[in-house]
Order: sequence, then C-alpha cells, then structure tokens
Amino acid sequence: MMHYVDGNRGASADQPASSEIVGNDSQIADAKKMLPGLAAISSESNNAQLGSAQSSTVLKDRFGRIHQSLRISVTDVCNIRCQYCMPAEGAQFLASERLLSFEQIEEFVRVAVSFGIRRIRLTGGEPLSRPNLHQLVAKLSAIDGVDDLALTTNGTLLAPQLPGLVRAGLRRINLSLDTLSATTFEHISRRKSFQNVLEGLQAALKCPDVEVKLNTLVLRHLNMCEVIDLVTYAREHQVDIRFIEFMPLDASRQWQNSSVVTGHELREIISRRFGPLNRLVDQRSSQPSADYELSDGSLKIGFIDSVSQPFCGACDRLRLTADGQLQNCLFGTEHWPVVQLLQTLPPDRESIGALLQACVSAKHPAHGISDPQFVAPPRAMYQIGG
Ligand code: 5AD
Ligand code: SF4
Repeated sequence: MMHYVDGNRGASADQPASSEIVGNDSQIADAKKMLPGLAAISSESNNAQLGSAQSSTVLKDRFGRIHQSLRISVTDVCNIRCQYCMPAEGAQFLASERLLSFEQIEEFVRVAVSFGIRRIRLTGGEPLSRPNLHQLVAKLSAIDGVDDLALTTNGTLLAPQLPGLVRAGLRRINLSLDTLSATTFEHISRRKSFQNVLEGLQAALKCPDVEVKLNTLVLRHLNMCEVIDLVTYAREHQVDIRFIEFMPLDASRQWQNSSVVTGHELREIISRRFGPLNRLVDQRSSQPSADYELSDGSLKIGFIDSVSQPFCGACDRLRLTADGQLQNCLFGTEHWPVVQLLQTLPPDRESIGALLQACVSAKHPAHGISDPQFVAPPRAMYQIGG
C-alpha cells in the first residue's frame, strides 16, 4: 500500500496535482494485522461475503464514529466556474484515462458495502458531465446494501438526463441554486447557463419518483440580498432548501473567516421575515444539516454550518476522488490510493478493505478550520467532490 500526503501539491488548480509517497507495501500487511475483521475476508471467500448486505465489520474510527456514507466524485470536470469553488481561468482537469471506470467504482462500492457503507452520493466537479452517468447509477442502485443513492448537481445538464437517471434508480437529487437571477448566476458561476438550471430543476420537481433538495451557498456581496426570495421560492415549490456555509475550498483562495455568512446570520434574516424557526430534532445524527421549519410548518430549511458550528463529532463520511484516492475528510491532506488495487484483475478486495480501514483509522477528530494553524487543503472542492 502506498499512503500519500499532499504536502507538495500546488496551491492553485492551475498547477497539476502531484503527491508525495510516504508509505510502502509493508503497510498493507500492517494494516491487515491491526484491523479486526479483515481476517474474515479471505481472497477466496470474499465474493460471497461481499455480496451480502449483512456486514459484521464496520468502519469505526478512533473516536467511535462509524462510517456509513461514501461520497464518490465521478469527475473533476465542471461546465461552470462558481467563484467559491473553481478558478476563473486555467482549471486543469484529470486526463479521462485517470478516472476510475464505472466497473472500478462498482467494485469499490461492493467492498465498502461489506464494511457497512449504506449511503452513496455521486458528486463532481459536475457529475452529469461524465458521459453515461446513468449506467453507473444502474450499477450502484442494484447493489444489495446500498440503501440510499443520491446525486449532487449544478442542474445545468439535468433536464435531458433525468429520465435515464430515474430509470436507472436515482431517487434523490441535491441541486445547487444560489440565486433566482440570471445576472447574478452569471456573476457567481461565470457562465450563462441559468435557464438550463431552471429547466433541470423544474423537470426534477415534476418527477414524482425523485426527492429534490436545494443547496444554497450565500456570498455576502453577491446573493445575500436574495435569501428571502430563495426561501419564498422553495416554499412555493415545496422543496427543501439547505444553506451551506462558504468553506476554505475555493481554488482561488479568496476565503476568509469574515467572508463566511454564517447559518446564524441567515436564521436571523429568515426569522425576521417569516417568524421564529422551529428546530427539528428527529434527524439522523450524522447528517450535516441542522434542520428547521418555518413556524407555520410550510417549509423545511437546513443549515450546514460547517465553519461556525462544525459537526465533525458525528461525521460518518468517506470520500473517493475521481482518480481513485480515498479521503477521510473534506479538509484532509492525506490520501489512500485505491486506484492501483482496483486496476489489478481480479481486484484485490482484501487489500481494498485494509485500505478502507486504514483510511478510517487515521481520521482526525475535527477539521480545525478555526485553529490558527489551519491550512486549507491543496485540492479545491471540485477536485475532491462536494
Ligand atoms: N464551500 C462550501 N460549499 C461549497 N460547494 C462548492 N464549493 C464550496 C465551498 N467553497 C458546494 C456548493 C454545491 C456543492 C456541489 O458544493 O454549494 O452545492
Ligand atoms: Fe467530517 Fe472532515 Fe467534514 Fe469534519 S471536516 S465533518 S471530519 S468530513
């Protein structure tokens, strides 16, 4: 096993990613010895075992957090250039031959499910810019043990692909909607595709089989004036909306603590107009959003206060980047390269399991954004997967 640290990666997306190898093959043997449960998966018996949704092995870290969610980035390519994520110019994308194939992703998910992963979210870049994404959705939704398969999208490419995705088994979509104005959209995303977003959103809202949520990121000088309009829109269309705090994951490194519009500020703005918000408590503890309801019960509003109120203590998420690196935190600087293990034929499931466990075991208690020593990770949001 090789264990990579990102210490020498370029700080901007304009610089190609490179990694420093700090581990060696003997680590995999060590990981296997250390990690309980792995012995149960011999390379002969693992096919049968991995096919079963009943896993006795869980991905528990040093702090007792059991990991059940996996975010899979299927591409780092995006067709728009949101300020809070991508550079205006010169974004460099992975060569397509470096992307994990759908078969490799499926293989990885089968192993992950045998270790208790239950929820999968497909992300990017823009995941719908990966050709034939519906084929991956079909493969993953057929896996026994995947209880929840969701997609995060900017919506621009959604309308034409929606029927195929739904036929393939997709039931949940989070769509980014930061503004209701085409001009502001162009400002934020540096592209003119707002009409396509609305078409994608309307198609999804009309689709009875799909649960839609809106993701909204508020930037102080751009769309803060639209918070009430966005909530009103969500209420009119009966679609849950979630406000996400701006995190230090923008490629152009403009993030500052003071630029974050906090969930607290947003709740004040919303309750001044709509009355007090009621906190909803019966939510899954590991979910990142704190959910509230308008006092008349007409809309659920979530707040993902990742900066002002980190929810690391309940985190149950792992990430797989488009080039096959496992990460245990959005802000992590370490990677566990699963890609080589998926390239061998047949893939070495035992080693993939060991890598998963090693990745979880190394997880830190929290992201530490507010620590004075905090260093933003070298990969931007679009290179990790949101
Ligand atoms: N901070 C917080 N959220 C971000 N996203 C992208 N970049 C950032 C960032 N710097 C979110 C967007 C989108 C999802 C794909 O990722 O809000 O909804
Ligand atoms: Fe989990 Fe890392 Fe996100 Fe914290 S920062 S919630 S530990 S993924």
